[in-house]
Amino acid sequence: MSVHSKLYEGKAKILYTTDDPEVLLADFKDDATAFNAQKRGSIIGKGEINCSISSQLFKQLEVYGIKTHFIDNPSPNQMRVKSVKILPLEVVVRNIAAGSLSQQTGLAVGTLLKQPLVEFYYKNDQLGDPLLTRDRLLLLELATVEQVDAITNLALQINEFLNGFWQQCGITLVDFKLEFGLDSQQQILLADEISPDTCRLWNTAEADPNRRIMDKDRFRRDLGNVEDAYQEVLQRVLQLVESK
Ligand code: C5P
Repeated sequence: MSVHSKLYEGKAKILYTTDDPEVLLADFKDDATAFNAQKRGSIIGKGEINCSISSQLFKQLEVYGIKTHFIDNPSPNQMRVKSVKILPLEVVVRNIAAGSLSQQTGLAVGTLLKQPLVEFYYKNDQLGDPLLTRDRLLLLELATVEQVDAITNLALQINEFLNGFWQQCGITLVDFKLEFGLDSQQQILLADEISPDTCRLWNTAEADPNRRIMDKDRFRRDLGNVEDAYQEVLQRVLQLVESK
């Protein structure tokens, strides 16, 4: 596979075109950003770790019946993916209150939600990725009614799978963000990544509210030991996958 030109550089990944117009190469970076890139830094080894975790999860999700953009890994921090048109939506699923949900509603961090909450945010850096209502989403024509319903169902199915997967790793899935894209046949594929950058993951066996955090909140909140936490998540994922 020969790699052509840089198509897009995001905060955590660079996308390259390849000789196959249906295939892109995603290069995962160690760069870390938070708060709409107001906080910048680097997490050593993050590119490889997030690429590995995402790849394992995409493979497992495919077996579970979810269509993803994942093809294979030419190298540890690279993923070949199906070319899709990314919908400008960040789809957040929450099982436990934390982050912006707690800040905006007053629900105490750690409150177990009676049912998973699916939220849509407008993927737009200039506007600061605002929370959308369904009607605003449709008003802006960011997706069709059918696509919103299909994505909501997919997000809930993915949550079902991930809850069980992380539980078997001794990790509690608090919340996470997904992105979806449309392929050349207008099929909806799960895209982007699923990693400690995009999920809140708490060590189930650890009661201390700071020590239990195994995700990007360690970077966002300057809690230290970021690399160790990411590495620990990867080890647990690999252990589980290899034991199957
Ligand atoms: O900040 P907030 O509580 O809304 O984040 C919810 C979830 O979505 C968290 O797991 C966070 O890591 C993820 N997220 C993300 N990228 C964003 C915003 C949130 O991965 N731009």
